[in-house]
Amino acid sequence: MKKIKNISVIGTGVIGTGWILRFLAHNKKVVVFDKNKNQINYLKKEIIRTKSSIEKLYKRKINLQNLQIANTLDEAVKYSDLIQENVPERLQIKKTVIKNISKFAPKNSIIASSSSGLLPSKLQLGCINPQRFIIAHPFNPVYILPLVEIVNGEKTSKTFLSRAKVFYKSINMKTLLINKELPGFLSDRLQEALWREGLHIIKDGYATTKDLDDAITYGPGMRWAIMGTFLTFHLAGGDSGMKHMLEQFGPALKLPWTKLKSPKLDFKLKQKIINGTSLQSKNLSINKLSNIRDNFLIDLIELKKKYKL
Ligand SMILES: NC(=O)c1ccc[n+]([C@@H]2O[C@H](COP(=O)([O-])OP(=O)(O)OC[C@H]3O[C@@H](n4cnc5c(N)ncnc54)[C@H](O)[C@@H]3O)[C@@H](O)[C@H]2O)c1
Repeated sequence: MKKIKNISVIGTGVIGTGWILRFLAHNKKVVVFDKNKNQINYLKKEIIRTKSSIEKLYKRKINLQNLQIANTLDEAVKYSDLIQENVPERLQIKKTVIKNISKFAPKNSIIASSSSGLLPSKLQLGCINPQRFIIAHPFNPVYILPLVEIVNGEKTSKTFLSRAKVFYKSINMKTLLINKELPGFLSDRLQEALWREGLHIIKDGYATTKDLDDAITYGPGMRWAIMGTFLTFHLAGGDSGMKHMLEQFGPALKLPWTKLKSPKLDFKLKQKIINGTSLQSKNLSINKLSNIRDNFLIDLIELKKKYKL
């Protein structure tokens, strides 16, 4: 399998720039293109602003000789092993850019889109050799946050998918492979649910945006940095874990606690959740998991004090 050394970044806004920094921090050669020539000023500012964070995190300096600015799309992609597309989240714009990338890039290069939720099967229509097209959805700031959601379209091949996975892992990312495409993928669906609920609360005058942000950052958000919703709720059920949690809070699904409709909590769904959290907890007891969570939270409280806004 060919090692990925030469990378193109198309669209150098917030996310494109974040990728450029992460790639450079891992010693890749990066050619970039944005149709707005002024974007280069943003990139330059970000290189300066993030210098100390990158050196702290990766224990190395980035080598600016590895960065090249291209004047055209074809010049940017013609020698690339992987092209990361980061143009605005509009189906038509992305489809056109992806099609053009596929015309000029080497036949076996991976074409990855940073899309936050568009379906890969739609984005790869028009792409030459669509089997090499994937979604690689990162999180801002891309040079720090490890998560990348990798999603295949109907025409994506397993070979390109696993090549991509190995590559993103090699640049210190946590790859989350989503085999069945769905709009918004995983993380953004969860974030979107919270966001929509928050908008209802604000619109109806119950709380301010700060109240809602405090409601997360001083509470569940701190736990979420180490355990997601499911494992957290597993601990909320005491010694019997998720089973008791579902018995106690299952009925709340029928109360007006959210404007989102919830699915019916039938036996099959309960079992899926209980089995999932049981697997996640890796046979550690509720006590053991609680201690891990508590120690983590204490450290996090100190960290939050240091970075108080
Ligand atoms: N902002 C986020 O938090 C976030 C997180 C994850 C993924 N994403 C995704 O990343 C992508 C980019 O988002 P962003 O927030 O960086 O947007 P942005 O608006 O900051 O940047 C988009 C860039 O694309 C350039 N562009 C537009 N048309 C182009 C073209 N035809 N060719 C080349 N460059 C072109 C623009 O000049 C701009 O610099 C979107 O798909 C978005 O959903 C965003």
